[in-house]
Amino acid sequence: MKPIELSIDLGSSKTSIHKIGSGLVVNDESRVVVATKNNKMTLLESGKGVERYLRQPVPGCQILNTIDGGVITNERACVCMLKDYISRCLPGNAVLKPKIKALVSVGCGISLTEKKDIEKALNLAGANEVSIIESPLAVAGALGFGRGHFIVDIGSSKTEIAVVGRDGIVAGCSVDIGGDKLTKAIADYMVTELGSTISFNLAEKIKRDLGSMYDNNNMSMRVNVRKVGSQRAESEVIHSREIRSVIEPHIIDLLHIIYNMSFQIPDVLAEDILQEGIVLCGGGANLTGLGNYISKFMQMRYYKVDDPQTVVSRGGMYFLENSTDFAKMLNVINYK
Ligand SMILES: Nc1ncnc2c1ncn2[C@@H]1O[C@H](COP(=O)(O)OP(=O)(O)OP(=O)(O)O)[C@@H](O)[C@H]1O
Ligand SMILES: [Mg+2]
Repeated sequence: MKPIELSIDLGSSKTSIHKIGSGLVVNDESRVVVATKNNKMTLLESGKGVERYLRQPVPGCQILNTIDGGVITNERACVCMLKDYISRCLPGNAVLKPKIKALVSVGCGISLTEKKDIEKALNLAGANEVSIIESPLAVAGALGFGRGHFIVDIGSSKTEIAVVGRDGIVAGCSVDIGGDKLTKAIADYMVTELGSTISFNLAEKIKRDLGSMYDNNNMSMRVNVRKVGSQRAESEVIHSREIRSVIEPHIIDLLHIIYNMSFQIPDVLAEDILQEGIVLCGGGANLTGLGNYISKFMQMRYYKVDDPQTVVSRGGMYFLENSTDFAKMLNVINYK
């Protein structure tokens, strides 16, 4: 029986799985609802379905995030989630359980122990063979491996910045600035400057709908807030310009790191990279006007990847499909 081959991106907010021969099968949130009895954890819900439990908590149930910054935060919960997501990739009518080969993309900064934790969780979730690559490499797999790329993957908790060359990563780093930091900055601004409290979800909506790095954006939106120290709900008008002033310092911090990383581009890759531009991916790349803003600062063009939140698992498929050529690069033994 042919093995099932899965390329997995374990993101802090989303987990995506591409299956060879089928494409994108899972694109769901990295969180679960579980109940624990006699030290045994049972999965009640995973992914988007968790929202329901957030609105109406159920006694005895725990809502758990499974990944943060590419690292497993709760092994048992993560195994429950992976089992569920992997089951969505299996044929429903199989009599014999097929062998499962999994390639997991992880951030540049994670340690050997953390990689081993991921390998263990995948094994416990049913994967027979696990390989691990660094996520910028997977993105390069989607763009065309064997050329130079300058990749900026802005996730929810981290941003991966890497120069990828013809044989692998030339230089890369993982920075603690991601979309969640921008969202939190918006929520904090509402409290400190406007004396209003809003939920993280509303701050997230403001970021997506109103956040813009264009300086001539005159959009505004009316939101329902609660004044600090009062139970009364009020409505408040928020302007795109003020949201920009809140998120811009974090984007500038990121820009400085991108700028410094650009000095790691070797001459031999410069032409490829100048031609393609800075590759922007991850959900954070969807922030309005971000590409132009980075491009202006860096004096380089930019290229926003199609479907930027699933490109890592999509690109990982290239390494699964050519696993014999990349055996040395993919073998987890190399990390031991
Ligand atoms: N339209 C948008 N505007 C601004 N930010 C957005 C938009 N769409 C998604 N995002 C942000 O993208 C982030 C999620 O991106 P992504 O799914 O790539 O993260 P992840 O891979 O789960 O996280 P990480 O790589 O840090 O582990 C969130 O912070 C979200 O707010
Ligand atoms: Mg990510």
